[in-house]
Amino acid sequence: MSSENNQENENAGLPPVPSAPPAPRDASRRRFIGWLLGIVGAVVAVLLCIPLVRLVLYPLFAKTGEAGWSDLGPAEQYHSLAVPLRRVVKIQDIDGWRQTISQHVVYVTEGPQGNLRVLTAVCPHLGCEVAWNPQLNEFKCPCHGGTFKASGKYISGPPPRGMDTLPIMVRNGRLMVRYEYFRNLVPEKEVIG
Ligand code: FES
Repeated sequence: MSSENNQENENAGLPPVPSAPPAPRDASRRRFIGWLLGIVGAVVAVLLCIPLVRLVLYPLFAKTGEAGWSDLGPAEQYHSLAVPLRRVVKIQDIDGWRQTISQHVVYVTEGPQGNLRVLTAVCPHLGCEVAWNPQLNEFKCPCHGGTFKASGKYISGPPPRGMDTLPIMVRNGRLMVRYEYFRNLVPEKEVIG
């Protein structure tokens, strides 16, 4: 209506009539929709940011190099072991944002008192993989010829100590092992990760 009046006024050379202000109900409805859109936008932005924030903060709360427990199968299969049994365990290493799966050889064997023990196959000399030699009935390292008894006890060669034992437990009838890393070239076993 006011635009028609303005057109008439323009034609008649008169100043335009100012348009009427919006009705109070229209203004409050527009304000409400504005608020609503703002809140919805803020909620969506927060939801989208959560995965990003979790990704960025994850290394601050994750344990570095955490080694979990690995399942070696039913414990009863290891009763009365004649020779050490070779097994491969998979572990997940977490280092900051990097996660890697690595495989490690271990041997399930009998200790001096007939208790089960699990040995890492990493040679305590320079870290080569020690293997069980059924002909010699002993462990032998292929790198520099270090030898060990079936229990992991040192026999001969350059290694400064016997093979390292790993923490074990029996849970729900299954033998579990926690893989660890040890320092080489030192006479006493020293866990480094
Ligand atoms: S690395 Fe095993 S004897 Fe040297």
